[in-house]
Amino acid sequence: MAKVKTTFFCQNCGTQYAKWQGQCNACKEWNTIVEEVIQKPEKNDWKTPTSTTKKASVPLRIKDIDVSKEPRLNTYDGEFNRVLGGGIVPGSLTLLGGEPGIGKSTLLLQISLKLPYKTLYVSGEESQKQIKMRAERVNPNNNNCYILTETKTQNIFKQIAALQPDIVIIDSIQTLHSDYIESSSGSISQIKECTTELIKFAKETATPVLLIGHITKDGHIAGPKILEHMVDTVLQFEGDRNHVFRILRAHKNRFGSTNELGIYEMQGSGLREVTNPSEILISKKDEELSGNAIAATLEGMRPLMIEVQALVSTAVYGTPQRSATGFNAKRLNMLLAVLEKRAGFRLGAKDVFLNITGGITVDDPAIDLAVVAAILSSNEDTALQKDFCFAAEVGLSGEIRPVQRVEQRILEAEKLGFSSIFVSKYNKISLKNTVIKIQLISKIEDLVGILI
Ligand code: TYD
Ligand code: MG
Repeated sequence: MAKVKTTFFCQNCGTQYAKWQGQCNACKEWNTIVEEVIQKPEKNDWKTPTSTTKKASVPLRIKDIDVSKEPRLNTYDGEFNRVLGGGIVPGSLTLLGGEPGIGKSTLLLQISLKLPYKTLYVSGEESQKQIKMRAERVNPNNNNCYILTETKTQNIFKQIAALQPDIVIIDSIQTLHSDYIESSSGSISQIKECTTELIKFAKETATPVLLIGHITKDGHIAGPKILEHMVDTVLQFEGDRNHVFRILRAHKNRFGSTNELGIYEMQGSGLREVTNPSEILISKKDEELSGNAIAATLEGMRPLMIEVQALVSTAVYGTPQRSATGFNAKRLNMLLAVLEKRAGFRLGAKDVFLNITGGITVDDPAIDLAVVAAILSSNEDTALQKDFCFAAEVGLSGEIRPVQRVEQRILEAEKLGFSSIFVSKYNKISLKNTVIKIQLISKIEDLVGILI
């Protein structure tokens, strides 16, 4: 009998070893190295659908390469198209990662039910009946979507050859297994092999493949890092499970920018595209409340108005508490120190809580000024005018710094009916005929003077 060939893989980062050891040299995790059988069976009884003799590639001048024949496939989902950079590129592999229960299966099933092309949805996680039940909630009248419950790649390719779908969706890559490798599904070598087979299939037939991937407890896509290198696009579906909003962003995109953001709302009948997020993220209230300020932020190319809430109260215990949700806590401490030093506020003996409403996390520095305004407003217990908004970064010496694409933020604020926007004096603004009042400030003291 032939000797069984095995290798050792770190299950955390995918590094390969010739023999077992306790700690992975690459990622420094303990007890993650596992032996996997990688022997290929002698008998090769299957082929990928088109693994016929392929012509060797020849170099071409860049201007001679014809791209006109490859239009992107419209997914009929505005948010998904935007994040991908205008639709799915034929022959591309897209990986969608996200926490369990966040709605990855729902999103891709919903997209396959909207498509007018022939789609094959391969599920290794749910039965055909379960998927049908989900489909009935989302969009029951579709004749182009086929469901296959199968986990063996060789069988999947057989079905693909018979059906000839225009697009293939795999839920999920961790459930697939290939006969070429003997280790169990979800192991590093299986994930690598199945992805390689799918890439070969996608590139040779120009069929786009969408993969769902599980994530590990620290938020990375489970499996080797190399998986993310192999695919063309890595999307992350995130959001607080207790909130109704879901955010889709691209971590890697070979065919577009990674700045774009898609926003969905989870409803009883699937995910609804949120085309005007600003209106939802700002609570519509009649009374003016202290501690609230609106920031004009940008997520990718899209302006987003976000409500910041602060609560400043006298510290009950010796050490004051500082906590921030959706905002970097270190940055909050820095802004508090600036306020203390430059504007003479004695916040040292106060508890400060900060919350970005809507359950989203913002890392646009333009939110700083709204954070400072919300803190000042709560500290003084006086409400800011509810049609004020802010877009500037605050520096360590209390200076108000300019932010990128300020004109786009101003126009969005005007569109949503704000009367004044506070921006840095150093921003170059060439807008004319704006109804909104643009208040230019250069120091944090100016803001204190105007607001209080
Ligand atoms: P699912 O797509 O199964 O998540 P994942 O594949 O990422 O693990 O999403 C499951 C959640 O979505 C579940 O908690 C119920 C919710 N949901 C709705 O609220 N409305 C719907 O129409 C559907 C189909 C699911
Ligand atoms: Mg799922």
